[in-house]
Amino acid sequence: MHQVKLAEDIYFLGYNDRRTNLFENIWPIPHGISYNSYLIVDEKITLIDTVERAFIDDYLDNIEAIIGDRPIDYLVINHMEPDHSGALKSIIQKYPEITLVGNKKTFGFVESYYFTPEKVLEVYDNHVLELGKHKLQFQMIPMVHWPETMVTFEETNKIAFTGDAFGSYGTLDGGIFDDEINLDFYEIEVMRYFTNIVGKYCPHTQRAIKKLAPLDIKMIAATHGPIWRSDLDWVLTRYNKWSSYDLDRGVVIVYGSMYGNTQKMAEIIARQLAVQGIKNIRVYDASKTHSSYIINDIFKYKGFIVGSPSYNNALFPNVETLLSTIEHMAPKNHYLGIFGNFSWSGGGVKNLKVFAEKIKWEMVYEPIEEKGALKANKQEELINMANAMADKLFEK
Ligand code: FEO
Repeated sequence: MHQVKLAEDIYFLGYNDRRTNLFENIWPIPHGISYNSYLIVDEKITLIDTVERAFIDDYLDNIEAIIGDRPIDYLVINHMEPDHSGALKSIIQKYPEITLVGNKKTFGFVESYYFTPEKVLEVYDNHVLELGKHKLQFQMIPMVHWPETMVTFEETNKIAFTGDAFGSYGTLDGGIFDDEINLDFYEIEVMRYFTNIVGKYCPHTQRAIKKLAPLDIKMIAATHGPIWRSDLDWVLTRYNKWSSYDLDRGVVIVYGSMYGNTQKMAEIIARQLAVQGIKNIRVYDASKTHSSYIINDIFKYKGFIVGSPSYNNALFPNVETLLSTIEHMAPKNHYLGIFGNFSWSGGGVKNLKVFAEKIKWEMVYEPIEEKGALKANKQEELINMANAMADKLFEK
């Protein structure tokens, strides 16, 4: 095996998943994902997180290739979610003397998913664990992405093992460190991982960024995606921007449409926004584009305009799915416009209004609803809505 080291005695054990179509059985990963674990070989041998269960055999073989028949002393569980604890039972079976290292929340999850662990070490903020030459310090970062999530900071080389935080979709296709990769490829993968998985927990992410700031981190080793060692600002700046809802001037327009009438309304709004000088306009058909991509753009742009026909006196189902994802993620600081269409009775716009009340984004214009084909007076209204949105976006 070609061994990859982050520093003296610190090994990368990462595995590429190009088979899974949907991460968490929800989010499309056309470019796959990696599961990264790390091994520190010192007087005490320590694993940091494990990997998804599909890779257990290679994982155990690769550990043995590095440490031979020495036992592993500690398994640090930064995050208990099964994509990182998938090999936990196998590790304990092979290394029964191992001590699980986690915080007061961690072991409850171990118990509920696997069994009651026998040998545990409960750590807390600033707790230091001596391994020999290396020392590990722990910092709790709850809800990035589960309640038990924590960061393990290796003090000698100043490496932060951050779990999901600063991770990415996309496999590691040869390049593992940020300076080995053209990061253009990861631009959307890092953001989509953030918005899909961690995006609900922006305030927690902000707290984590502030908490880690004093640590003088030289390398960020997450459990997915590249290891950041050359340009940490690349990922830190982006995480800070996204988690503080620092949005760009632009509009995401999403519609559902069966016969094209609601789509026509969306096209008129989009065109008028462009006439008004808005350069970032993304128009999506909710039946075609997965909410993973749409929510990602909602985390980029301040304007959001959504249109739905009535469908069985309710929202168009694919619009409804997207809106429920948005309500769940609850991003802040947006301007909103709503419009729709009906044939015999309402239901689309009526339920868009319910969404507007729940999400509490500022409405830039009154809801617009057309019956059947688009008429001139409603076209004028749509232009007015686009103008109102553009005015808001150009406000200082
Ligand atoms: Fe990669 Fe929240 O697990």
